[in-house]
Amino acid sequence: MRGLGPGCLLLCAVAASAAPAVPWRVACPPRCSCQLRPWYSPRSAYREAATVDCNDLLVTSVPRELPEGTQTLLLQSNDIARLERGELGYLRNLSELDLSQNSFCDVRDLGLGDMPRLLSLHLEENRLSELPDGSFAGLGNLQELYLNHNRLRSIAPRAFAGLGGLLRLHLNSNLLRTLDSRWFQTLPSLEILMVGGNKVDAILDMNFRPLGNLRSLVLAGMQLREIPDYALEGLRSLESLSFYDNKLAEVPRRALQQVPGLKFLDLNKNPLQRVKQSDFTNMLHLKELGLNNMDELVSVDQFALANLPELTKLDVTNNPKLSFIHPKAFQHLPRLETLMLNNNALSALHRQTVESLPGLREIGIHGNPLRCDCVVRWLNGSRPRLIEPHSTLCAEPPELRRRRVRDVPFGEMTERCLPLIPARSVPASLEARPGDDVALHCRALAEPEPEIYWVTPSGEKLLPFGEGGRKLKVRSEGTLEIRGIAAGEAGLYTCVAQNLLGADTRGVRVLVGGSFPPGRAELRLLVLDARPHRVLLAWSPRLNAVSSNLTWASSAPGSRPGAARIPAGTHSFNLTRLRPGTEYRACLRVASAAAPLRVACVTARTEEAARAPPWARGTPEQKASLAHEDPDDHPDLLPAHAGIGI
Ligand SMILES: *[C@@H]1O[C@H](CO)[C@@H](O)[C@H](O)[C@H]1NC(C)=O
Ligand SMILES: *[C@@H]1O[C@H](CO)[C@@H](O)[C@H](O)[C@H]1NC(C)=O
Ligand SMILES: *[C@@H]1O[C@H](CO)[C@@H](O)[C@H](O)[C@H]1NC(C)=O
Ligand SMILES: *[C@@H]1O[C@H](CO)[C@@H](O)[C@H](O)[C@H]1NC(C)=O
Repeated sequence: MRGLGPGCLLLCAVAASAAPAVPWRVACPPRCSCQLRPWYSPRSAYREAATVDCNDLLVTSVPRELPEGTQTLLLQSNDIARLERGELGYLRNLSELDLSQNSFCDVRDLGLGDMPRLLSLHLEENRLSELPDGSFAGLGNLQELYLNHNRLRSIAPRAFAGLGGLLRLHLNSNLLRTLDSRWFQTLPSLEILMVGGNKVDAILDMNFRPLGNLRSLVLAGMQLREIPDYALEGLRSLESLSFYDNKLAEVPRRALQQVPGLKFLDLNKNPLQRVKQSDFTNMLHLKELGLNNMDELVSVDQFALANLPELTKLDVTNNPKLSFIHPKAFQHLPRLETLMLNNNALSALHRQTVESLPGLREIGIHGNPLRCDCVVRWLNGSRPRLIEPHSTLCAEPPELRRRRVRDVPFGEMTERCLPLIPARSVPASLEARPGDDVALHCRALAEPEPEIYWVTPSGEKLLPFGEGGRKLKVRSEGTLEIRGIAAGEAGLYTCVAQNLLGADTRGVRVLVGGSFPPGRAELRLLVLDARPHRVLLAWSPRLNAVSSNLTWASSAPGSRPGAARIPAGTHSFNLTRLRPGTEYRACLRVASAAAPLRVACVTARTEEAARAPPWARGTPEQKASLAHEDPDDHPDLLPAHAGIGI
């Protein structure tokens, strides 16, 4: 099993200090080799087995006159399609038979008859297409049956009748379309079941109910879209479960509540968009959880993982859109030691997230576009240990780009920072069909925590917990949900994330049935000129609104945010008293009684102070006051109040 590796949870031959093979002096068939080899029973008991190895001979029948004492017979990679009935009956002590990679098309040609000592039967990579009732009659003590990589389309309800002691069954990579719970009624001892890689698109309530001893279930590589609430009912011994590579869009949280003993869960490679509140709660034995390789995953929401007292390792990696982990995503995970978050789209991980994990020892956060300002200040400390510190680099702000996070002096990180909506969390456009439910996810991290709201194409401002009605709803995490979208609701939806330092916005063009309303001209903000201490901004169209505000700020230490009211009829503005060589983000917000609220933002960088004149080489305070007197620096329209609020 990929990812968490619990496939080797039990019954797996411990490759311990095994004795080497020694020759077994018997009349050995030509081209085969006969040896005493180390052997582990399916229960991991060790013994020496009299082994006849006739692998890779391309023979079409089993060699005659095998030594009677043969315990393990290896016939892998031959071209055998048929055994005469009872042909191997004289090998009374045969406990393992390997017929994998042969040419069996029909299990009735297997002709094994009564072999009460056989424990392990390998039939993988043959051409079996169906299993009728009683396919393995006579093998009453079989413990392992490998049927993976055949062409099985149909398995009769009682195909496995008589295998009451079977511990391990591999049916993966066949052509099955359903998993019939009747198969399992005759397999009460089963501990490991692998059925992944079949074209199964649904499992049913009580699907595995007879399997009270099952410890590991692999349902990987199928087409499962959802897991019914009671599908896992009865699996009271289940410890390891894999849904790797399915089509699950939601965490099957109710179904998971039915398997309280679960220790290892693999949900990797599923199209989850969010890990939502209470998706993983009260799983008292869960030790490892994998949420990797999810192309659609955008956020891990508040209280997503709560009360998992045994969880020690959490892997959330290689999710190209994962740009947000809520500061309170994790609640009561007292034993979490390792948090792997590498190769996502995270711009930061909030200090609060780290502080909520008292047992955290190490964290991997490399391969993320980290923003080295206030929210990652905790990374300055020595705990938790940073995995791959040399490749944990800053992506923002520009002056720290490619610096190692660990090398950024704490003092250079501001205590407050602007909201930033990660580009990868919100698509620039989205196509829906009339009647679709649409969810637009907008998240932002900042200090202080930002408020998030949405503005509809008609200009309505939608707040979390706001009215909005049944049709449109903004969730507290910032997701806008539109139920049954209509053609008339196409248009530009804008998310605004705002704190007292400023705002960031992102627009999503939502097309319904391929159409987008011609609509009003979008508000656009442009940088016309950038000097060391000022930036000239312009916008279109010209404003005729009652109330228009321009705010600007920088995450650079020591810079002051500013704000100004913009009179109607103007279309440009000089931002003044700026610091040289610094990136600023400015947003223009326009509202009027008649027209909807519109927001546009732009990022501008002031010019470097190339040849600073001698008088400018003073303390920052002196510089600021000198900059004040710069004749170039008069506020042109209204005074731009240094400070916050307008
Ligand atoms: C089969 O195993 C039994 C018990 O281990 C042993 O006594 C007997 O000799 C074996 N039979 C052959 C043909 O080797
Ligand atoms: C953390 O920042 C402080 C203040 O800048 C600095 O003195 C200290 O050395 C930094 N610690 C680490 C581990 O970088
Ligand atoms: C601009 O600021 C004023 C004063 O703070 C406020 O009343 C008004 O609503 C703001 N306008 C917009 C469009 O945000
Ligand atoms: C901005 O400032 C520059 C220099 O002071 C001035 O030439 C320009 O006219 C100003 N632009 C506006 C739109 O106020």
